[in-house]
Amino acid sequence: MREHLTRRQVLGIGGALGLLTATGLAASAALSRRPSFTGAVLRSALPLPPAFHVPLPIPSVLRPVSTAGGVDRYEITQREAVLEVLPGFRTPLWTYNGTFPGPTIESRRGRPITVTHHNELPVPTVVHLHGGRSTPEADGYPTDLVLPKGWPGTKPGSHGSGSGHVSGGGHGGGGHGGGHGMHDPRAVVTELTRGYTFPIDQRATLLWYHDHRMDFTAPAIWRGLAGLHLVRDDVEDSLALPTGPRELPLMITDRSFAADGSLVYPSLDPTLRERPGVQEPYLAGVLGDVILVNGAPWPMHEVDATRYRLRILNASNARHYELEAVTDDGRRLDLVQIGADQGLLPAPVTHQQLPIAPAERYDVIVDFSTIAIGSRIRLLDRLGEGRTREVMAFHVARKAKDDSRIPPRLATDLPDWRRSDAVRVRDFSFRAGQLNGGHGWVIGGKAFDPARSDVTVRLGDVEVWRLVADVHHPIHLHLVGFQVLSRGGKAPLPHDAGLKDTISLRPGESAEIITRFDGYRGRYLFHCHNAEHEDMGMMANLEIV
Ligand code: C2O
Ligand code: CU
Ligand code: CU
Repeated sequence: MREHLTRRQVLGIGGALGLLTATGLAASAALSRRPSFTGAVLRSALPLPPAFHVPLPIPSVLRPVSTAGGVDRYEITQREAVLEVLPGFRTPLWTYNGTFPGPTIESRRGRPITVTHHNELPVPTVVHLHGGRSTPEADGYPTDLVLPKGWPGTKPGSHGSGSGHVSGGGHGGGGHGGGHGMHDPRAVVTELTRGYTFPIDQRATLLWYHDHRMDFTAPAIWRGLAGLHLVRDDVEDSLALPTGPRELPLMITDRSFAADGSLVYPSLDPTLRERPGVQEPYLAGVLGDVILVNGAPWPMHEVDATRYRLRILNASNARHYELEAVTDDGRRLDLVQIGADQGLLPAPVTHQQLPIAPAERYDVIVDFSTIAIGSRIRLLDRLGEGRTREVMAFHVARKAKDDSRIPPRLATDLPDWRRSDAVRVRDFSFRAGQLNGGHGWVIGGKAFDPARSDVTVRLGDVEVWRLVADVHHPIHLHLVGFQVLSRGGKAPLPHDAGLKDTISLRPGESAEIITRFDGYRGRYLFHCHNAEHEDMGMMANLEIV
Protein backbone atom coordinates (compact mmCIF):
# COMPACT_ATOMS: atom_id res chain seq x y z
CA MET A 1 0.00 0.00 0.00
CA ARG A 2 3.02 2.26 0.40
CA GLU A 3 3.09 2.95 -3.34
CA HIS A 4 -0.49 4.16 -3.27
CA LEU A 5 -0.02 6.93 -0.77
CA THR A 6 -1.03 10.28 -2.09
CA ARG A 7 1.35 13.17 -1.78
CA ARG A 8 -0.69 14.59 1.08
CA GLN A 9 -0.46 11.32 2.96
CA VAL A 10 3.27 11.21 2.42
CA LEU A 11 3.52 14.74 3.79
CA GLY A 12 1.70 13.34 6.76
CA ILE A 13 -0.18 16.45 7.77
CA GLY A 14 -3.23 16.91 5.60
CA GLY A 15 -3.37 13.29 4.56
CA ALA A 16 -3.24 11.71 7.94
CA LEU A 17 -5.41 14.37 9.53
CA GLY A 18 -8.05 14.08 6.86
CA LEU A 19 -8.04 10.38 7.39
CA LEU A 20 -8.47 10.84 11.13
CA THR A 21 -11.36 13.26 10.89
CA ALA A 22 -13.07 10.97 8.42
CA THR A 23 -12.86 7.95 10.67
CA GLY A 24 -12.47 9.15 14.25
CA LEU A 25 -9.23 9.42 16.15
CA ALA A 26 -8.61 5.86 17.26
CA ALA A 27 -10.82 4.03 14.80
CA SER A 28 -9.36 0.80 13.59
CA ALA A 29 -9.95 1.84 9.97
CA ALA A 30 -7.54 4.73 10.49
CA LEU A 31 -5.02 2.44 12.16
CA SER A 32 -5.10 -0.06 9.34
CA ARG A 33 -4.58 2.65 6.73
CA ARG A 34 -1.97 4.65 8.60
CA PRO A 35 0.89 5.94 6.49
CA SER A 36 4.20 4.23 7.13
CA PHE A 37 6.00 7.50 7.75
CA THR A 38 5.48 11.12 8.70
CA GLY A 39 7.63 13.59 6.78
CA ALA A 40 8.79 14.26 3.22
CA VAL A 41 11.86 12.93 1.43
CA LEU A 42 14.48 15.47 0.48
CA ARG A 43 16.26 14.13 -2.61
CA SER A 44 20.04 14.19 -2.97
CA ALA A 45 21.49 15.84 -6.08
CA LEU A 46 24.44 13.50 -6.56
CA PRO A 47 24.71 9.87 -7.64
CA LEU A 48 24.21 7.74 -4.53
CA PRO A 49 27.11 5.43 -3.66
CA PRO A 50 26.61 1.67 -4.00
CA ALA A 51 25.49 -0.15 -0.88
CA PHE A 52 27.71 -2.37 1.26
CA HIS A 53 31.12 -1.09 0.15
CA VAL A 54 32.20 1.38 2.81
CA PRO A 55 33.44 -0.32 5.99
CA LEU A 56 31.40 0.38 9.13
CA PRO A 57 33.20 3.00 11.22
CA ILE A 58 33.18 2.50 14.99
CA PRO A 59 33.20 5.86 16.78
CA SER A 60 36.28 6.15 18.97
CA VAL A 61 35.85 6.05 22.74
CA LEU A 62 36.84 9.35 24.32
CA ARG A 63 39.63 9.24 26.89
CA PRO A 64 39.12 11.28 30.04
CA VAL A 65 41.57 14.15 30.55
CA SER A 66 41.52 13.34 34.26
CA THR A 67 40.15 10.63 36.53
CA ALA A 68 41.14 12.32 39.78
CA GLY A 69 38.83 12.36 42.79
CA GLY A 70 36.57 9.60 41.46
CA VAL A 71 35.28 11.81 38.64
CA ASP A 72 36.09 11.24 34.97
CA ARG A 73 36.58 14.54 33.17
CA TYR A 74 36.13 14.91 29.43
CA GLU A 75 36.65 17.78 27.01
CA ILE A 76 34.70 18.17 23.78
CA THR A 77 35.09 20.94 21.22
CA GLN A 78 32.12 21.67 19.01
CA ARG A 79 33.52 22.74 15.69
CA GLU A 80 33.11 22.61 11.96
CA ALA A 81 34.93 19.81 10.14
CA VAL A 82 35.02 18.63 6.56
CA LEU A 83 34.65 14.85 6.41
CA GLU A 84 34.42 12.26 3.68
CA VAL A 85 30.94 10.86 4.29
CA LEU A 86 30.31 9.71 0.71
CA PRO A 87 33.35 8.25 -1.08
CA GLY A 88 35.07 10.97 -3.09
CA PHE A 89 33.05 13.88 -1.66
CA ARG A 90 33.77 16.41 1.04
CA THR A 91 31.00 17.23 3.49
CA PRO A 92 31.21 20.16 5.91
CA LEU A 93 29.64 19.15 9.22
CA TRP A 94 29.09 20.51 12.69
CA THR A 95 30.83 18.07 14.97
CA TYR A 96 31.77 17.10 18.48
CA ASN A 97 35.60 16.87 18.35
CA GLY A 98 35.77 16.76 14.57
CA THR A 99 33.94 13.46 13.94
CA PHE A 100 30.43 12.32 13.08
CA PRO A 101 29.16 10.62 15.17
CA GLY A 102 30.97 12.41 17.97
CA PRO A 103 33.27 10.43 20.26
CA THR A 104 31.61 7.77 22.40
CA ILE A 105 31.72 8.31 26.14
CA GLU A 106 31.79 5.20 28.30
CA SER A 107 30.83 5.68 31.89
CA ARG A 108 30.30 3.38 34.82
CA ARG A 109 27.22 3.39 37.03
CA GLY A 110 27.91 5.28 40.26
CA ARG A 111 30.99 7.10 38.95
CA PRO A 112 30.21 10.72 38.07
CA ILE A 113 31.61 12.40 35.00
CA THR A 114 32.06 15.98 33.87
CA VAL A 115 32.00 16.86 30.18
CA THR A 116 33.25 20.33 29.32
CA HIS A 117 32.02 21.53 25.95
CA HIS A 118 33.65 24.37 24.03
CA ASN A 119 31.52 26.05 21.40
CA GLU A 120 33.53 27.02 18.32
CA LEU A 121 30.49 26.86 16.04
CA PRO A 122 28.91 30.02 14.61
CA VAL A 123 25.66 29.61 16.61
CA PRO A 124 24.63 29.03 20.23
CA THR A 125 24.45 25.39 21.29
CA VAL A 126 23.34 23.35 24.28
CA VAL A 127 24.01 19.68 24.94
CA HIS A 128 21.49 17.18 26.26
CA LEU A 129 22.34 13.66 27.41
CA HIS A 130 19.34 11.76 26.10
CA GLY A 131 18.19 9.17 28.61
CA GLY A 132 20.47 10.54 31.31
CA ARG A 133 19.27 10.81 34.90
CA SER A 134 20.75 14.27 34.97
CA THR A 135 20.43 17.18 37.36
CA PRO A 136 18.40 20.05 35.88
CA GLU A 137 21.51 22.25 35.55
CA ALA A 138 23.15 19.66 33.29
CA ASP A 139 20.07 18.53 31.39
CA GLY A 140 20.54 20.85 28.44
CA TYR A 141 17.37 22.93 28.71
CA PRO A 142 16.86 24.54 25.26
CA THR A 143 17.53 28.08 26.47
CA ASP A 144 20.59 27.19 28.61
CA LEU A 145 22.76 28.22 25.70
CA VAL A 146 26.50 28.32 25.24
CA LEU A 147 27.05 31.39 23.09
CA PRO A 148 29.77 31.42 20.43
CA LYS A 149 32.40 34.12 20.08
CA GLY A 150 30.97 37.42 18.93
CA TRP A 151 27.31 36.45 19.31
CA PRO A 152 25.08 39.55 19.46
CA GLY A 153 24.48 40.50 23.07
CA THR A 154 27.74 38.97 24.21
CA LYS A 155 29.60 41.34 26.49
CA PRO A 156 32.60 42.69 24.59
CA GLY A 157 35.89 41.66 26.14
CA SER A 158 34.37 38.88 28.21
CA HIS A 159 36.10 35.53 28.16
CA GLY A 160 35.30 31.97 28.98
CA SER A 161 32.70 30.67 31.29
CA GLY A 162 30.99 33.81 32.50
CA SER A 163 27.35 33.10 33.06
CA GLY A 164 24.40 35.39 32.96
CA HIS A 165 20.76 35.62 32.10
CA VAL A 166 19.98 36.89 28.66
CA SER A 167 17.17 36.41 26.22
CA GLY A 168 17.02 32.73 25.46
CA GLY A 169 17.23 32.64 21.73
CA GLY A 170 18.94 35.21 19.66
CA HIS A 171 16.00 35.17 17.27
CA GLY A 172 13.88 38.27 17.09
CA GLY A 173 11.21 36.01 15.73
CA GLY A 174 7.56 36.78 15.49
CA GLY A 175 5.46 36.80 12.39
CA HIS A 176 4.86 33.97 10.03
CA GLY A 177 7.15 31.06 10.76
CA GLY A 178 9.26 33.27 12.97
CA GLY A 179 10.95 32.17 16.16
CA HIS A 180 9.21 31.79 19.44
CA GLY A 181 11.24 34.86 20.34
CA MET A 182 10.59 34.29 23.98
CA HIS A 183 12.37 35.66 26.91
CA ASP A 184 13.18 32.98 29.43
CA PRO A 185 14.14 34.48 32.78
CA ARG A 186 15.37 31.11 34.07
CA ALA A 187 17.82 30.49 31.23
CA VAL A 188 21.42 30.05 32.31
CA VAL A 189 23.51 31.28 29.42
CA THR A 190 27.27 30.94 29.25
CA GLU A 191 29.84 32.14 26.78
CA LEU A 192 32.09 29.79 24.81
CA THR A 193 32.12 26.93 27.29
CA ARG A 194 30.09 24.99 29.80
CA GLY A 195 30.77 21.99 31.99
CA TYR A 196 28.04 19.39 32.40
CA THR A 197 28.31 17.09 35.42
CA PHE A 198 26.38 13.82 35.32
CA PRO A 199 25.95 11.61 38.40
CA ILE A 200 25.60 8.41 36.24
CA ASP A 201 23.32 7.06 38.94
CA GLN A 202 21.43 4.84 36.50
CA ARG A 203 21.19 1.40 34.89
CA ALA A 204 23.64 0.36 32.19
CA THR A 205 22.34 1.30 28.76
CA LEU A 206 23.03 3.17 25.53
CA LEU A 207 22.41 6.90 25.84
CA TRP A 208 23.22 9.57 23.30
CA TYR A 209 24.11 13.21 23.47
CA HIS A 210 22.90 15.79 21.02
CA ASP A 211 22.23 19.46 20.54
CA HIS A 212 18.98 20.78 22.07
CA ARG A 213 18.95 24.46 21.14
CA MET A 214 15.55 26.10 21.20
CA ASP A 215 13.93 26.12 17.72
CA PHE A 216 17.08 24.79 16.00
CA THR A 217 17.61 21.26 17.31
CA ALA A 218 16.65 19.50 14.07
CA PRO A 219 19.13 21.23 11.74
CA ALA A 220 21.89 21.05 14.38
CA ILE A 221 21.54 17.28 14.77
CA TRP A 222 21.25 16.93 10.97
CA ARG A 223 24.58 18.76 10.58
CA GLY A 224 26.25 16.26 12.89
CA LEU A 225 25.80 17.20 16.56
CA ALA A 226 25.16 13.72 17.94
CA GLY A 227 27.27 11.15 19.78
CA LEU A 228 26.90 7.95 21.78
CA HIS A 229 27.23 7.38 25.51
CA LEU A 230 27.40 3.89 26.99
CA VAL A 231 26.73 3.39 30.68
CA ARG A 232 28.24 0.16 32.03
CA ASP A 233 27.53 -1.69 35.27
CA ASP A 234 28.24 -4.94 37.14
CA VAL A 235 24.89 -6.52 36.25
CA GLU A 236 25.69 -6.30 32.57
CA ASP A 237 29.25 -7.55 33.14
CA SER A 238 27.97 -10.69 34.91
CA LEU A 239 25.91 -11.87 31.93
CA ALA A 240 28.54 -13.10 29.42
CA LEU A 241 27.05 -11.07 26.59
CA PRO A 242 29.13 -10.57 23.43
CA THR A 243 31.79 -7.90 24.12
CA GLY A 244 34.78 -6.16 22.57
CA PRO A 245 34.65 -6.21 18.77
CA ARG A 246 31.45 -8.29 19.02
CA GLU A 247 29.54 -5.42 20.57
CA LEU A 248 28.67 -2.92 17.84
CA PRO A 249 27.13 0.50 18.40
CA LEU A 250 24.98 1.37 15.37
CA MET A 251 23.81 4.96 15.08
CA ILE A 252 21.37 5.03 12.17
CA THR A 253 20.62 8.37 10.49
CA ASP A 254 19.26 9.49 7.13
CA ARG A 255 20.73 12.50 5.31
CA SER A 256 20.56 14.20 1.92
CA PHE A 257 23.39 15.70 -0.10
CA ALA A 258 23.85 18.48 -2.62
CA ALA A 259 25.79 17.89 -5.86
CA ASP A 260 29.02 19.09 -4.22
CA GLY A 261 28.72 16.62 -1.34
CA SER A 262 27.52 19.13 1.24
CA LEU A 263 24.45 18.29 3.31
CA VAL A 264 21.16 19.81 2.27
CA TYR A 265 18.38 20.71 4.71
CA PRO A 266 15.32 22.86 3.95
CA SER A 267 15.94 25.55 6.60
CA LEU A 268 14.19 28.89 6.15
CA ASP A 269 17.41 30.48 7.40
CA PRO A 270 20.40 28.32 6.41
CA THR A 271 22.71 30.28 8.74
CA LEU A 272 20.59 28.97 11.66
CA ARG A 273 21.17 32.31 13.30
CA GLU A 274 17.75 33.94 13.29
CA ARG A 275 14.71 32.46 11.68
CA PRO A 276 13.82 28.89 12.68
CA GLY A 277 11.70 26.50 10.69
CA VAL A 278 11.69 24.51 7.48
CA GLN A 279 10.11 24.99 4.07
CA GLU A 280 6.46 24.09 3.78
CA PRO A 281 6.73 20.61 2.21
CA TYR A 282 8.85 19.45 5.15
CA LEU A 283 6.71 20.63 8.06
CA ALA A 284 5.96 17.03 9.04
CA GLY A 285 9.63 16.07 9.10
CA VAL A 286 12.74 15.88 6.92
CA LEU A 287 13.62 12.45 5.55
CA GLY A 288 16.98 11.86 3.86
CA ASP A 289 17.51 9.46 0.97
CA VAL A 290 20.94 8.23 2.12
CA ILE A 291 21.07 5.87 5.09
CA LEU A 292 24.15 6.31 7.25
CA VAL A 293 25.27 3.96 10.00
CA ASN A 294 27.88 5.53 12.27
CA GLY A 295 28.20 8.24 9.63
CA ALA A 296 28.92 5.90 6.68
CA PRO A 297 26.51 5.24 3.79
CA TRP A 298 25.05 1.70 3.75
CA PRO A 299 28.21 0.26 5.32
CA MET A 300 29.51 -3.30 5.37
CA HIS A 301 30.96 -4.98 8.44
CA GLU A 302 32.95 -8.20 8.48
CA VAL A 303 31.93 -10.51 11.34
CA ASP A 304 32.86 -13.86 12.85
CA ALA A 305 30.25 -16.63 12.69
CA THR A 306 29.29 -15.97 16.32
CA ARG A 307 26.82 -13.94 18.35
CA TYR A 308 27.01 -10.15 18.16
CA ARG A 309 25.47 -7.53 20.39
CA LEU A 310 24.05 -4.62 18.39
CA ARG A 311 23.45 -1.37 20.29
CA ILE A 312 21.05 0.28 17.87
CA LEU A 313 20.07 3.96 18.03
CA ASN A 314 17.80 5.72 15.56
CA ALA A 315 19.29 9.22 15.54
CA SER A 316 17.32 10.28 12.46
CA ASN A 317 15.28 13.46 12.66
CA ALA A 318 11.99 11.99 11.46
CA ARG A 319 12.54 8.61 9.80
CA HIS A 320 11.14 5.47 11.41
CA TYR A 321 12.61 2.10 10.54
CA GLU A 322 11.36 -1.44 10.83
CA LEU A 323 14.52 -3.48 10.88
CA GLU A 324 15.01 -7.06 9.78
CA ALA A 325 18.20 -9.08 9.20
CA VAL A 326 17.91 -11.13 6.02
CA THR A 327 20.24 -13.66 4.40
CA ASP A 328 20.80 -13.59 0.65
CA ASP A 329 18.55 -16.65 0.31
CA GLY A 330 15.74 -14.80 2.03
CA ARG A 331 15.93 -16.25 5.53
CA ARG A 332 15.26 -13.88 8.43
CA LEU A 333 17.56 -14.02 11.44
CA ASP A 334 16.08 -13.58 14.90
CA LEU A 335 16.67 -10.23 16.51
CA VAL A 336 16.83 -11.15 20.18
CA GLN A 337 16.12 -8.01 22.15
CA ILE A 338 17.84 -7.94 25.53
CA GLY A 339 17.47 -4.24 26.33
CA ALA A 340 15.40 -1.13 25.72
CA ASP A 341 16.10 2.63 25.97
CA GLN A 342 16.77 2.41 29.69
CA GLY A 343 18.64 -0.87 29.96
CA LEU A 344 18.28 -4.62 30.18
CA LEU A 345 14.92 -6.38 29.99
CA PRO A 346 13.91 -8.97 32.60
CA ALA A 347 14.12 -11.63 29.85
CA PRO A 348 14.95 -11.64 26.13
CA VAL A 349 12.22 -10.94 23.57
CA THR A 350 12.65 -12.41 20.08
CA HIS A 351 11.64 -10.34 17.06
CA GLN A 352 11.79 -10.90 13.33
CA GLN A 353 11.08 -7.24 12.68
CA LEU A 354 11.93 -4.44 15.03
CA PRO A 355 10.34 -1.01 14.64
CA ILE A 356 12.54 1.86 15.83
CA ALA A 357 11.39 5.48 16.04
CA PRO A 358 13.65 8.54 16.29
CA ALA A 359 15.65 8.52 19.57
CA GLU A 360 14.72 4.95 20.51
CA ARG A 361 17.45 2.40 21.29
CA TYR A 362 17.43 -1.38 21.19
CA ASP A 363 19.99 -3.77 22.59
CA VAL A 364 19.85 -6.80 20.32
CA ILE A 365 21.74 -10.09 19.93
CA VAL A 366 22.08 -11.63 16.47
CA ASP A 367 23.64 -15.02 15.99
CA PHE A 368 25.66 -15.48 12.80
CA SER A 369 26.80 -19.01 13.72
CA THR A 370 24.38 -20.74 11.34
CA ILE A 371 25.42 -18.59 8.37
CA ALA A 372 27.70 -20.06 5.71
CA ILE A 373 31.17 -18.52 5.72
CA GLY A 374 31.47 -16.01 2.90
CA SER A 375 27.81 -15.06 2.83
CA ARG A 376 26.09 -11.85 3.62
CA ILE A 377 23.31 -10.68 5.96
CA ARG A 378 21.57 -7.44 5.08
CA LEU A 379 19.94 -5.23 7.69
CA LEU A 380 16.86 -3.92 5.90
CA ASP A 381 14.17 -1.37 6.66
CA ARG A 382 10.72 -2.65 5.75
CA LEU A 383 9.36 0.91 5.77
CA GLY A 384 11.90 2.18 3.25
CA GLU A 385 11.48 2.39 -0.49
CA GLY A 386 14.13 1.82 -3.16
CA ARG A 387 17.55 2.63 -1.72
CA THR A 388 16.14 3.45 1.72
CA ARG A 389 15.07 -0.19 2.12
CA GLU A 390 18.71 -1.01 2.79
CA VAL A 391 20.56 -0.07 5.97
CA MET A 392 23.83 -2.03 6.15
CA ALA A 393 25.26 -5.52 5.67
CA PHE A 394 27.32 -8.02 7.62
CA HIS A 395 29.77 -10.25 5.84
CA VAL A 396 30.39 -13.53 7.69
CA ALA A 397 34.11 -13.98 7.24
CA ARG A 398 35.24 -16.85 9.44
CA LYS A 399 34.36 -19.44 12.06
CA ALA A 400 35.37 -18.53 15.58
CA LYS A 401 34.97 -19.63 19.17
CA ASP A 402 32.05 -18.07 21.02
CA ASP A 403 31.86 -17.94 24.82
CA SER A 404 28.92 -15.58 24.89
CA ARG A 405 25.38 -16.57 25.75
CA ILE A 406 21.91 -15.13 25.94
CA PRO A 407 20.84 -15.72 29.52
CA PRO A 408 17.15 -16.59 29.89
CA ARG A 409 16.97 -14.11 32.79
CA LEU A 410 18.59 -10.73 32.40
CA ALA A 411 17.81 -7.90 34.82
CA THR A 412 16.00 -8.36 38.13
CA ASP A 413 15.91 -4.69 39.11
CA LEU A 414 13.03 -3.43 36.98
CA PRO A 415 10.47 -1.33 38.84
CA ASP A 416 7.13 -2.91 39.51
CA TRP A 417 4.79 0.09 39.18
CA ARG A 418 1.11 -0.71 39.18
CA ARG A 419 -1.79 1.36 37.99
CA SER A 420 -2.98 1.50 41.61
CA ASP A 421 0.31 3.18 42.63
CA ALA A 422 -0.47 6.18 40.44
CA VAL A 423 -1.54 9.28 42.32
CA ARG A 424 -2.62 10.99 39.09
CA VAL A 425 -3.61 10.28 35.50
CA ARG A 426 -2.86 12.95 32.90
CA ASP A 427 -3.93 13.20 29.28
CA PHE A 428 -1.88 14.71 26.49
CA SER A 429 -2.68 15.04 22.82
CA PHE A 430 0.07 15.45 20.23
CA ARG A 431 -1.29 17.09 17.10
CA ALA A 432 -0.82 19.58 14.32
CA GLY A 433 -1.62 23.12 15.49
CA GLN A 434 -0.68 26.76 15.29
CA LEU A 435 2.72 28.27 15.95
CA ASN A 436 3.07 32.04 15.56
CA GLY A 437 0.16 32.06 13.13
CA GLY A 438 1.69 29.37 10.92
CA HIS A 439 1.82 25.59 10.97
CA GLY A 440 3.20 24.01 14.09
CA TRP A 441 2.89 20.99 16.31
CA VAL A 442 1.32 21.23 19.75
CA ILE A 443 0.85 19.33 22.99
CA GLY A 444 -2.59 19.70 24.53
CA GLY A 445 -3.24 22.51 22.05
CA LYS A 446 -0.22 24.57 23.11
CA ALA A 447 3.08 25.30 21.42
CA PHE A 448 6.19 25.28 23.62
CA ASP A 449 6.85 28.30 25.78
CA PRO A 450 9.83 28.06 28.14
CA ALA A 451 8.24 30.64 30.43
CA ARG A 452 4.95 28.78 30.90
CA SER A 453 4.49 26.06 33.47
CA ASP A 454 2.84 23.01 31.94
CA VAL A 455 3.14 19.96 34.17
CA THR A 456 4.19 20.04 37.81
CA VAL A 457 4.78 16.72 39.52
CA ARG A 458 5.94 15.88 43.03
CA LEU A 459 9.28 14.15 43.40
CA GLY A 460 8.61 10.46 44.05
CA ASP A 461 5.06 10.37 42.71
CA VAL A 462 3.93 7.61 40.39
CA GLU A 463 1.73 8.85 37.55
CA VAL A 464 -0.01 7.38 34.53
CA TRP A 465 0.09 9.45 31.35
CA ARG A 466 -2.29 8.83 28.49
CA LEU A 467 -0.89 9.99 25.19
CA VAL A 468 -2.75 10.32 21.89
CA ALA A 469 -1.35 11.24 18.50
CA ASP A 470 -2.64 12.41 15.11
CA VAL A 471 0.37 11.34 12.99
CA HIS A 472 3.58 9.55 14.11
CA HIS A 473 4.98 11.16 17.24
CA PRO A 474 7.86 9.55 19.16
CA ILE A 475 7.30 10.99 22.64
CA HIS A 476 10.28 11.40 24.97
CA LEU A 477 10.41 12.27 28.66
CA HIS A 478 13.57 13.71 30.14
CA LEU A 479 14.97 12.36 33.44
CA VAL A 480 12.75 9.30 33.90
CA GLY A 481 12.30 5.89 32.38
CA PHE A 482 8.76 4.60 32.02
CA GLN A 483 6.89 1.44 31.22
CA VAL A 484 4.24 1.09 28.55
CA LEU A 485 0.95 0.02 30.17
CA SER A 486 -1.21 -0.19 27.07
CA ARG A 487 -1.26 0.70 23.40
CA GLY A 488 -4.45 1.37 21.48
CA GLY A 489 -6.43 0.16 24.49
CA LYS A 490 -4.75 -3.23 24.29
CA ALA A 491 -1.66 -4.88 25.76
CA PRO A 492 1.67 -3.28 24.81
CA LEU A 493 3.53 -4.62 21.77
CA PRO A 494 6.52 -6.98 22.17
CA HIS A 495 9.02 -4.17 21.49
CA ASP A 496 7.43 -2.01 24.22
CA ALA A 497 9.07 -4.27 26.83
CA GLY A 498 11.32 -2.94 29.55
CA LEU A 499 12.12 0.59 30.66
CA LYS A 500 11.81 3.21 27.95
CA ASP A 501 12.35 6.94 27.64
CA THR A 502 10.79 7.34 24.20
CA ILE A 503 7.55 5.77 22.97
CA SER A 504 6.55 5.67 19.34
CA LEU A 505 2.93 6.70 18.88
CA ARG A 506 1.61 5.77 15.46
CA PRO A 507 -1.03 7.73 13.56
CA GLY A 508 -4.30 7.82 15.46
CA GLU A 509 -2.85 5.79 18.27
CA SER A 510 -3.12 6.22 22.02
CA ALA A 511 -0.91 4.69 24.68
CA GLU A 512 -0.59 4.73 28.45
CA ILE A 513 2.73 4.95 30.23
CA ILE A 514 3.56 4.74 33.93
CA THR A 515 6.55 6.17 35.76
CA ARG A 516 7.85 7.36 39.08
CA PHE A 517 9.25 10.88 38.95
CA ASP A 518 12.32 10.32 41.03
CA GLY A 519 15.74 11.81 40.60
CA TYR A 520 16.01 15.55 41.08
CA ARG A 521 13.80 18.57 41.54
CA GLY A 522 13.84 21.15 38.81
CA ARG A 523 12.92 22.00 35.28
CA TYR A 524 12.83 19.26 32.67
CA LEU A 525 10.97 18.62 29.43
CA PHE A 526 8.92 16.18 27.48
CA HIS A 527 8.56 16.44 23.75
CA CYS A 528 8.16 14.78 20.42
CA HIS A 529 11.49 13.47 19.11
CA ASN A 530 10.59 14.02 15.51
CA ALA A 531 13.17 16.81 15.60
CA GLU A 532 11.22 19.01 13.20
CA HIS A 533 8.09 18.71 15.37
CA GLU A 534 10.16 19.48 18.44
CA ASP A 535 11.45 22.69 16.82
CA MET A 536 7.93 23.64 15.75
CA GLY A 537 6.42 23.72 19.21
CA MET A 538 5.88 20.09 20.24
CA MET A 539 7.58 20.35 23.61
CA ALA A 540 6.38 21.09 27.14
CA ASN A 541 7.84 21.87 30.54
CA LEU A 542 7.97 19.21 33.21
CA GLU A 543 8.68 20.70 36.61
CA ILE A 544 9.56 18.38 39.46
CA VAL A 545 8.98 19.84 42.91
CU1 C2O B 1 16.94 13.38 22.72
CU2 C2O B 1 14.98 16.28 24.75
O1 C2O B 1 15.96 14.85 23.72
CU1 CU C 1 16.23 13.46 26.44
CU1 CU D 1 5.80 14.65 16.52
